[in-house]
Amino acid sequence: MDHMNIRAYEKTCPPRRGADAIKPIHKGTFTIKPVFESGGSSFGAEIYGVDWSKPIPPEIVAQLVALQDTYSVLIFRSTGLTNAGHIAFSQQLGKELEINPFFYGRENDRLGEPLLFDVGNIELDGSLVKRDSRRWHHSLGNALWHTDSPYHQHRSKYSILLSHGNPVAGGSYTHFADTRRAYADLPQSTKDEIEDLVIEHDLWHSRKLASPEVFGNPLPHELKAKPPAFHRLVQVAPDGRKTLYLAAHAKMVLGRNFEDSQRLIWELIDHCTQPKYVFSTEWKQGGDMVWWDNRQSMHRANPYTEAMTARDVRRSTILDDGPLAYGASSQEKIAAGWCP
Ligand SMILES: [Fe+2]
Repeated sequence: MDHMNIRAYEKTCPPRRGADAIKPIHKGTFTIKPVFESGGSSFGAEIYGVDWSKPIPPEIVAQLVALQDTYSVLIFRSTGLTNAGHIAFSQQLGKELEINPFFYGRENDRLGEPLLFDVGNIELDGSLVKRDSRRWHHSLGNALWHTDSPYHQHRSKYSILLSHGNPVAGGSYTHFADTRRAYADLPQSTKDEIEDLVIEHDLWHSRKLASPEVFGNPLPHELKAKPPAFHRLVQVAPDGRKTLYLAAHAKMVLGRNFEDSQRLIWELIDHCTQPKYVFSTEWKQGGDMVWWDNRQSMHRANPYTEAMTARDVRRSTILDDGPLAYGASSQEKIAAGWCP
């Protein structure tokens, strides 16, 4: 199947023309530099004026959340945050953070901090992740378009990625796609077709797509740690607009067979990730931090390469506490064609 020949994306997206022409906005103590604006939709913004050297006052957190609801991806430069500061700010954004399951043992994790995920390429002994190790292959799935954690029935709302190291030689980028504007541009017939669909998300599906030779048959403890979860495809974003909740983890459309499910899922992912909905942000120095909303965007990393130098990036993930946090109910699943 074509869609199983997984996309080899370009390392970066083309520079966004006109981005420099968007005027910075001054709001209170913030300077906001939107990344792009089109069709009445803003997506991505660099934010300046936050004092990260001390705890963030609740009124500033509230203002940042309002910006997050508008832009979906907020970029902060040279924050100087430590692990503790990263976790403390994350805990101001939601009641609970996702706990790292440490698939390969907490003792083998470089950070060993259950509230952070080590998504860089550095091993415990300081060497770089070796080509063809299980970790290398696991990371390949992160280069597919996805949201974080839709394979949890209690999903995440935000992810916050913080860089601790020097920039990667040759540049390092994370790419983001605006699923709100992409939904708005769908033909009405497609909107009608997908309105009530429920998707089964499975982490091991995306691992298999990216690395069939290693993750064709995940290990029993891996399967047990991450069973699939079910969420509505069409959702309402925090700003009230409809959005597509979609990812390479999306395995099945309930009520359809695997082939038809994958065809629709990848048609929609391809639609959402056209250049007109996408920007790439560069990791320029340690302290750079990107905070995104998994409910109204998709993202992807660059795949590991052997030429890559050390990349030390750590992620916190804030669990959703909104109305759709726990995904599709049994009634919704049954109505969508699920057989218990
Ligand atoms: Fe991710």
